[in-house]
Amino acid sequence: MRLILLFALLFSLPGFSQVINIIPNPSKIELKAGFLNFKQGLSIKTYGDDAELSGIARLFGNSLFGSKEWKVPESKNGAKLIILQILESPDNSSADESYSIRVFTDSVLIQSHTYRGLFYGCESATQLFINSVLTNEIPCMEITDTPQYAYRGMLLDVCRHFFSTDVVKQYIDLMAELKLNVFHWHLTDDQGWRIEIKKYPRLTEVGGWCTQKDGFKYGGYYTQKEIKEIVAYAAERYITVIPEIELPGHSSAAIAAYPFLSCTPNEPKTVPTTWGIKKDIYCPSDSTFNFLKDVLDEVCALFPEQYIHMGGDEAPKDAWKKSRIAQALMQREHLKNEEELQHYFLKKMEDYLATKGKRCIGWGEIVKGGLSDSVLVMSWLNKKAGVKAIAHGNQVIMTPRVYCYFDYPQKLSDKKPTLWMLFLGLHKVYRFSPMANSIPVEKRNLVLGGQANVWTEYIIDEKRLHHQIMPRLAAMAEALWSKHKNFADFRERLNNSAVLK
Ligand code: ACM
Repeated sequence: MRLILLFALLFSLPGFSQVINIIPNPSKIELKAGFLNFKQGLSIKTYGDDAELSGIARLFGNSLFGSKEWKVPESKNGAKLIILQILESPDNSSADESYSIRVFTDSVLIQSHTYRGLFYGCESATQLFINSVLTNEIPCMEITDTPQYAYRGMLLDVCRHFFSTDVVKQYIDLMAELKLNVFHWHLTDDQGWRIEIKKYPRLTEVGGWCTQKDGFKYGGYYTQKEIKEIVAYAAERYITVIPEIELPGHSSAAIAAYPFLSCTPNEPKTVPTTWGIKKDIYCPSDSTFNFLKDVLDEVCALFPEQYIHMGGDEAPKDAWKKSRIAQALMQREHLKNEEELQHYFLKKMEDYLATKGKRCIGWGEIVKGGLSDSVLVMSWLNKKAGVKAIAHGNQVIMTPRVYCYFDYPQKLSDKKPTLWMLFLGLHKVYRFSPMANSIPVEKRNLVLGGQANVWTEYIIDEKRLHHQIMPRLAAMAEALWSKHKNFADFRERLNNSAVLK
């Protein structure tokens, strides 16, 4: 009874519970007797000195002592040690992301079986320390933590509006703080081709720019050097970058650069300045297939990770219905309709990627014309395409738009009427689960996780981008990482966080 009273008293002390407001919420936090006081400073020590461990310690040091607006006193005498340790021999191929943090009165021990787990331990510890900088004191405790879902993503559309590498890095940093681990980089679309392809320079010279009504030229692209820099920056933070090279639709920018890619090459082509679904899509010709293979050669060389996203959404079949090339191919390959032709198209690219050891991801629509065994399905209209893919035995990522589209407004506007489904408040994001009741228990491991998508038609600059992303990304991170969710508690932690502002 006394113990209960003691704990009740401890929790009711102002400022006390506020320091343990880690987002996403760790699996288990056990409070222990005593406090660690770090008025005399902190110092990071690693067990072992391999390059990867040193890299983690350096990033941890940067977040604790570097760019943030506060500093721990630097006196070495009396500085408390934070020890980073890999348990047993590190296995870099392991997907294990769990870690533990033990706070004693005189030191902190962060441990994991993997480097990525250790990195997440450091992210949690950063939040612990920065949130308690006013008191320079944190209670002794033991944290053990492991994520619920292995795939925790965010998509950034850099086609509708272009964002510099500095902005991209900023979002990679934010993702790392929230333990998100996949950056889905939407690099090609109707309104812009944003990745330098050396064999086809017009893709960026022409396809990277649109001319607006008043003559203003808008656009931009990433050089291969910049792409490598971003991939390396993300890898240091245990974030996989998945590039998206859209096909067969959302391809107007490529077609404007190289009209032979269209079924109507002699009609005038421009990079559109308007949004919506465009009817001019890649023609399923040998020259298009060869072009795409060349593009994929360069893309695969830039992105060392396993996955390449090939789009597959919103591809109207009007052009194929009228095209002699498309119709002849359907006849030759005994394809019943244009959806099956899309499957044929995608499968050709998927097989090519497989020869390079890569796996292909596609948006939900790809389940329509037949599904190959190894493709990963990203279900976006709702969860139905994902459920169908799971029945077929495929792995899926759930990103239903009513929960995951961060271009939707956060508040219902009192000025403009807004459809209820196009409004996405913090609580709704928090309620998101990638699982669906209709998925049989024995197949639930096929749901790899979920993703927030930031489409940028109406997001014109960094300020607006940040407004759309935060704090909803924090809610998404907790929805994907934490097993125990409680919105009121999340709100409290978010309000008290000195990190996630
Ligand atoms: C999408 O929003 N068309 C994937």
